[in-house]
Amino acid sequence: MSRNQVSARAHRWSANLWFAVAAAGQAVFIYFIVAFYGTRTASGRWAAWNDKPLITGYVKGDHAGNAVFAAHVLLAAVVTLAGLAQLVPAFRRAAPALHRWTGRTFLTLACFLALSGAWMAAARGTYLSLISAIAILGDAALILVFAVLAWRTALARRFEQHRRWAMRTFMVVSGVWFLRVGLMGWIVLNGRPLGMTDHMTGPADVVLAFGSYLIPLAILELHFAARSREKPALEWAASGVILVSTLYVAAGAFGAFRMMWGPYL
Ligand code: HEM
Repeated sequence: MSRNQVSARAHRWSANLWFAVAAAGQAVFIYFIVAFYGTRTASGRWAAWNDKPLITGYVKGDHAGNAVFAAHVLLAAVVTLAGLAQLVPAFRRAAPALHRWTGRTFLTLACFLALSGAWMAAARGTYLSLISAIAILGDAALILVFAVLAWRTALARRFEQHRRWAMRTFMVVSGVWFLRVGLMGWIVLNGRPLGMTDHMTGPADVVLAFGSYLIPLAILELHFAARSREKPALEWAASGVILVSTLYVAAGAFGAFRMMWGPYL
């Protein structure tokens, strides 16, 4: 095997491992949404959303706000599942027609979540600090732009570009999950909330609020560059960065379940 083949294989394996860990972590997120919000919403116990700490969950008399919150959290489970399904090559090859339908569902719901989330932050006033609100609104804006580009390139049958925009959309839609994983991973690794405040204004909070989507996007661009240029040094660099981020994601996904979700199930 040539040096090129070894580095290409290491790169492929590290990317697959990253995806497997992220998919397992997102499956736990979906499970939490269904087990916590799904059961309470379906049985009409909407006030029980507040059994876990929230900024603004159920508010008595706020029918519109409660309805948007319900739609937002329940569809969050669907968009997360659809996003994962889109990225599995075997699924794309085996069922291309289904891939197109889950793709349309994913992109439409991604836009709905960005708009409903932005509405909750801006109109309902659901945010911890101005800087964290700006960060999440930045994520919402990128979701809308990337989803449109992914859709347009698919319609134009420019499939290589479509693949890239679809993966960028996956990263920014996963931004809200990465945020939880990023915050909890930081606490797990440091053993305490170093550089964090209750209002998300500490230096670590600010870096993670913006980094929750900008860091995954940067790593994705490195992955694209390594794939297209086929330079061993770049492929080793990409493999190393992806492996380190896999370890962080694993620690954060574990922390999110232990600290954010598990105690309320
Ligand atoms: C696109 C993917 C998104 C997913 C999968 C998602 C998921 C969720 C989930 C599961 C919750 C329930 C809160 C919890 O238990 O932690 C939630 C709440 C919320 N989301 Fe999203 N969300 C997404 C996008 C957004 C965006 C782009 C924004 C803002 C622009 C946003 C703003 C909010 C707000 C303000 C809440 C209420 C939080 C609270 O009251 O504590 N979401 N979201």
